[in-house]
Amino acid sequence: MKFFIDTANLDQIKEAQDLGVLDGVTTNPSLMAKEGITGKDNILQHYLDICKIVDGDVSAEVVATDFDNIIKEGKELTQLHEQIVVKVPMIKEGVKAIKYFSDNGIRTNCTLVFSAGQALLAAKAGAAYVSPFLGRLDDISTDGLQLIADIRLIYDNYGFETEILAASIRHSMHVINCAKLGADVMTGPLSSIEGLLKHPLTDSGLEKFLEDAKSFNL
Ligand code: E4P
Repeated sequence: MKFFIDTANLDQIKEAQDLGVLDGVTTNPSLMAKEGITGKDNILQHYLDICKIVDGDVSAEVVATDFDNIIKEGKELTQLHEQIVVKVPMIKEGVKAIKYFSDNGIRTNCTLVFSAGQALLAAKAGAAYVSPFLGRLDDISTDGLQLIADIRLIYDNYGFETEILAASIRHSMHVINCAKLGADVMTGPLSSIEGLLKHPLTDSGLEKFLEDAKSFNL
């Protein structure tokens, strides 16, 4: 399973990268706005700064909603850096754009996916990644994990190569459950990755080992 961090915060991206297990980054307009980045040049520069920190794919989202402008914006984003993957919303114009990008060798991440039907369409159009929003489904008392399982089954039935990028991950149990269901990638906050480290028996075990090691007189 690949680990992506879902943030535009450079310090958090560095911290995850330093852990040595980071495979990529996802951003969205809300995450970029949270960092207070304004103006086209600054936004493009910020994507470049992210690409310098991490080795893997960096999803950068278009804000256009019509085919021509999604294509224009997407091309501009991919010309920035080879690590950029164009994030396109699951709307009719977005599906057409994903097909166009796929036919022209440009990788996409289809975002805002909340149903198996949407995921099927994204794969048919040739998206490199599909992003089902697990946490947001859970928020409205719908089973987000069931959606991950349904997409896995459908993609395996037909051999679709689109990678399932479990998004809107909120905590470490989401990561573990998505791994059990065979999601290809998870994207979540740093806390969801660092939470995997923690176990009280590790802490108490280490405390005892260090206590006993005092007798070594090193
Ligand atoms: C997907 O790539 C989105 O950026 C993200 O995972 C949305 O998560 P949220 O529901 O925590 O905003």
